[in-house]
Amino acid sequence: MATLFKRWGRASPSPEPEMFAAPTTIGSEQQRPAFLDTLWLDDEAPVRESDLPRFTAMASDDIDGATEDAGQARARLALRDALGASQPVTTRDRFAGRHDALAQLIAAVEQQRVHVVIYGERGIGKTSLVHVFADTAREARYIVLYGSCGTDGRFDEIFRAFAAKIPMLFHRSVLPTTAAVEQALNFDSMLPPGPFGPREVSDLFADVVGTRVIMILDEYDRIADANFRRDVAELIKNLSDRAARVQLVLTGVASNLDELIGFAPSIRRNIVGLPMRPLKLDEVGEILRLGEAAAGLHFGDAAVAMIATMANGSPYLVRLLGHRAAMTALDLRRAEVDAGHVKTAVERVLTEWNATLPRRVQAMLARDESRAQWPLLVAAAEAGTYSDGWFIATDVAAELTGTATPAAIEADLRRLSTPHNLLETDDRPGEPRFRYRYPGVASLLLMSASMARLER
Ligand SMILES: Nc1ncnc2c1ncn2[C@@H]1O[C@H](COP(=O)(O)OP(=O)(O)OP(=O)(O)O)[C@@H](O)[C@H]1O
Ligand SMILES: [Mg+2]
Repeated sequence: MATLFKRWGRASPSPEPEMFAAPTTIGSEQQRPAFLDTLWLDDEAPVRESDLPRFTAMASDDIDGATEDAGQARARLALRDALGASQPVTTRDRFAGRHDALAQLIAAVEQQRVHVVIYGERGIGKTSLVHVFADTAREARYIVLYGSCGTDGRFDEIFRAFAAKIPMLFHRSVLPTTAAVEQALNFDSMLPPGPFGPREVSDLFADVVGTRVIMILDEYDRIADANFRRDVAELIKNLSDRAARVQLVLTGVASNLDELIGFAPSIRRNIVGLPMRPLKLDEVGEILRLGEAAAGLHFGDAAVAMIATMANGSPYLVRLLGHRAAMTALDLRRAEVDAGHVKTAVERVLTEWNATLPRRVQAMLARDESRAQWPLLVAAAEAGTYSDGWFIATDVAAELTGTATPAAIEADLRRLSTPHNLLETDDRPGEPRFRYRYPGVASLLLMSASMARLER
């Protein structure tokens, strides 16, 4: 395998014109860490057919025999189930920490009877929290309906689908013996056949009796249509005014409430915002213990501390690094995961993230000019964490320790936003927004910066 940083070191095949200006505004006290240039080693040994990698388990998850290899294969499968990072947690037994967030969510719904907006950065655990909350609410006999929003989601479609899951048995006008119940009709049978708005939905849901309904709209930030958001705000207002037994829980990537629901003073009294905070050290330990129990491994204190630092409070990164570090320990037939295994895991993850970037972008990051701009690049990645990558020059200035003004930073960001360059721009009215054209670049920069902090 050709190495990442050897590739970075080579000249780009088609030099990019003027991609980076000389670092006029940013001090270079925070250089790109040297380890990035020496991370990967060439593996040039010839490969025999018998050395080629194979699957370790059957597609049915069955593992043959009671050999040592079979034990290893079982441990790998168990690790994947306990620490795999590609899916949200859906059950309580796999859910670690977050007791306060779950308690606040339950209290808002049960005690305050308000609607809730859960917000935070990507991968912080919003979907996992609402799944476990849904389980918990179902135990208390709530009807919990879950919908994931798409960019082209329509208000009437989503609420028709929700209504289709509430039996007519819970409608005020219906007696248990009426035909609607016998025919197993649901609330959608009361909706007009064509498009409808928040008025019709609140009229219908105000008639829920004998139960309580929670409607979860996950990934609400993906809704691009301003009318949809306005309709949801109006629905929240109407449901609250009528003391309906229906509550909404919205989740989305955002740094604050306004970003997600827009400026809607009329519903402020009726909603509670629940920000998802980074995980604490003991919560990181709790996630890793799920992996320990599954695979019969132990994470040493130094390994836990290192994963916590590198993950910076993200449960996604805790699982990703914990899983990789544990796999490394298994490869080496060790029962204790140590800091060296975590370092290997970080290096592998960085290599993989880099490999997903276009060759042109890898070359850009490898250049001396980008080395000189490193603090700015990292600060920009940090500034974008909370708004799905978007940031303004003022946010970047807040992340930097130097004396650069937002205007000077904006000029540098503009230089990085020429066509085919690292950033893209959104020239909306007011301050222009920027973001990395490839989200992988921001992740790579953030993880590299954590690694550099750790080495210091
Ligand atoms: N409390 C938790 N315990 C264990 N793992 C968790 C927890 N919360 C989140 N995770 C893990 O972190 C990763 C991200 O979680 P999740 O998908 O819930 O985040 P999200 O905020 O919804 O992300 P996105 O913004 O991309 O939708 C998943 O792999 C999930 O399994
Ligand atoms: Mg999610």
